[in-house]
Amino acid sequence: MLRVLLLNGPNLNLLGPREPGLYGCATLEGIEADLRRLATELGVALDCFQSNHEGALVDRIHAARGQAEGLLINAGAYTHTSIALRDALLAVALPFVELHLSNVHGREAFRHHSFLADKALGVICGFGPTSYTLALRGLVDHLGGVG
Ligand code: DQA
Repeated sequence: MLRVLLLNGPNLNLLGPREPGLYGCATLEGIEADLRRLATELGVALDCFQSNHEGALVDRIHAARGQAEGLLINAGAYTHTSIALRDALLAVALPFVELHLSNVHGREAFRHHSFLADKALGVICGFGPTSYTLALRGLVDHLGGVG
């Protein structure tokens, strides 16, 4: 069975009440529950982890070695700042999809650059919670499952 790890970075624990005009009303719990349902349909074992701390995300990426075949990551603001997350993803050499709820390219210029995107299998943004399901389907398809 394919094993996939979903990582969510800072402030994504506040989805729902957080800037609903930008990010929508769905909570992270709800998004994860929907993704778990899709994962079950696709025959994928999904593990979910959220942290507001860069080092905790780095540790969880390291722990994914031998535990997962691929990663989905919404690194939040760390997308635009974190060489440490980039290096961790490269160190474990697992395929990953970068995703965002909002279309970061239609927002402030500082959100247009990602430290992860050029190393990602693909990048999905702008579809709200659907970004998560599209990312899972893309990753599973790449890994040879039925995305
Ligand atoms: C985000 C976009 C980031 O720029 C922002 O810092 C977030 C959320 C998104 O999902 O749209 O925290 O990753």
